[in-house]
Amino acid sequence: MTKIFVTGALGFIGSYLIPYLNGQEHKVISSDVHVRDYADYVRADVTSFEDLYKIFRRENIDQVIHMAGEVGRMVGEEHPQKMMYVNNIGTLNLIKLCLEYNTKLVYFSTSEVYGRLFDKGEAVKEEDLEKGSVFTTTNIYAMSKLFGEAIVRHYVENYGLNSVTIRPFMVYGPGEHPSKYRSALINFVNSALNGETITVHKGAERAWCYVSDFVNGVHLAMQQPFSGEYEAFNIGSDEYHTMEEVARMVVQECDANDNQIKIIEPPNKFLSLTKKFSIEKIRHAGYAPKVSLEEGIHRVAEWQRKSDD
Ligand SMILES: NC(=O)c1ccc[n+]([C@@H]2O[C@H](COP(=O)([O-])OP(=O)(O)OC[C@H]3O[C@@H](n4cnc5c(N)ncnc54)[C@H](O)[C@@H]3O)[C@@H](O)[C@H]2O)c1
Repeated sequence: MTKIFVTGALGFIGSYLIPYLNGQEHKVISSDVHVRDYADYVRADVTSFEDLYKIFRRENIDQVIHMAGEVGRMVGEEHPQKMMYVNNIGTLNLIKLCLEYNTKLVYFSTSEVYGRLFDKGEAVKEEDLEKGSVFTTTNIYAMSKLFGEAIVRHYVENYGLNSVTIRPFMVYGPGEHPSKYRSALINFVNSALNGETITVHKGAERAWCYVSDFVNGVHLAMQQPFSGEYEAFNIGSDEYHTMEEVARMVVQECDANDNQIKIIEPPNKFLSLTKKFSIEKIRHAGYAPKVSLEEGIHRVAEWQRKSDD
């Protein structure tokens, strides 16, 4: 049985990943910055070395899944100092402890690290990131996560850190609360159900990944044997749709009105209009996303209807 320490456990992905890992008979110790009275939960701020050290000293941890942090493009633009601090000092603290205690580190990056590499319109592969730099990122969130990847890579290559990086693409599902800081898809459903305008960026295209498929991919990536080199995995779906198509699917699912859809010119900064990427590497490990976008939208709408009751 593997003992896994998960940071950022109270977040959206954590709410799926932890039950999944427990179901795989791993022993999970979850943590987050908030105070909670749950079994196998410890409060730990990842920027506090002491908080983390107490856990490493007490538990015999085999793997750390590091998801905690400041998340999202808009959060980064509004709180850049906080984002750089939490995402990078937090990662550095965990790296130091993983080296000290011979623990594997699963680092959560983001698809955003590819930035302007998406602009060519070709599917980006993991190794393509070599052609980019912080100068080809488009927002603070991407910079913070790319810098985090660089730190992890430094410790893999020079200090023998056992690590793997996950680059999540457009993860969504029930449990993600609508807000301007969260995914467009969740907000489309919320607007459709409430008779509000669904604002769509003209020409935008995405492949949305249902959260249970994503979690499956994470489990496969974390089980890969360590090659001794820096490794990253793109994890997402390969079902691409324009955001206009997504909006129409949402309208249909929610019995809303097509007139609610408003197509606008996309902003020319902070984001990529299209995001094409390869999932071949994780496919080789056995990954096969199962939930179609239509089914996923249905599940999100059902959940939001119930939450509104
Ligand atoms: N959801 C996606 O589509 C997506 C896409 C790309 C990358 N990611 C990455 O995956 C990870 C999980 O994403 P999520 O959607 O569950 O995010 P989330 O915002 O729902 O969860 C993040 C969690 O981190 C915790 N946290 C924040 N600061 C902390 C600190 N100083 N110490 C300890 N905990 C702290 C928060 O309380 C929160 O529970 C994040 O690292 C995110 O950047 C997610």
